[in-house]
Amino acid sequence: DDVDLKNSIRLIREVPDFPEPGVLFRDISPMLADPAALRAITDALGRGLEFDVVAGVEARGFLLGAAVAQAHGTGVIGLRKPGKLPEVADRISYELEYGHATLELPADTLRAGQRVLVVDDVLATGGTLGAACRLVRQAGSEVTAATVVMELAALGGRAKVDGEHVRALLRS
Ligand code: PRP
Ligand code: MG
Repeated sequence: DDVDLKNSIRLIREVPDFPEPGVLFRDISPMLADPAALRAITDALGRGLEFDVVAGVEARGFLLGAAVAQAHGTGVIGLRKPGKLPEVADRISYELEYGHATLELPADTLRAGQRVLVVDDVLATGGTLGAACRLVRQAGSEVTAATVVMELAALGGRAKVDGEHVRALLRS
């Protein structure tokens, strides 16, 4: 299992100077494209956790979230960027380094009291994952854990996912 996970993590592609100079971009696309890696990562994200539904954050959290949900026999909810949904149950705005962003919860998805596993690919400054968790709590549900493949620990984003159990498969 650990071997599978290590091999999977090796498939993450590091691209210097994207999307801007000085940033080392981690692209999980080759990892997702590999069947053994997708299985290993998906299992590891949810292992040992009890949850009723998965919430995946647009866009890269959709791919992982759906795979985790399928592996654990739950449904999946896509937390969306603004303006995409015909009916919104709730929304949350949060600050980014430059400007702000919004996530929206689709109508008729999450039920109060459900235990939610929040899934995304990367925890960087923590704005996105923190907002996703607040949106879930705001809807009267409980965050079982906030899980990502990779945490860029130097950015200290974990602090913004206040009070939640954060699981990162890899820290760099
Ligand atoms: C990226 C990444 C995380 C988020 C992490 O998403 O997929 O969701 O940034 O950054 P943070 O911790 O600083 O908030 P992004 O919105 O760039 O694009 P995506 O739609 O491709 O997932
Ligand atoms: Mg994202």
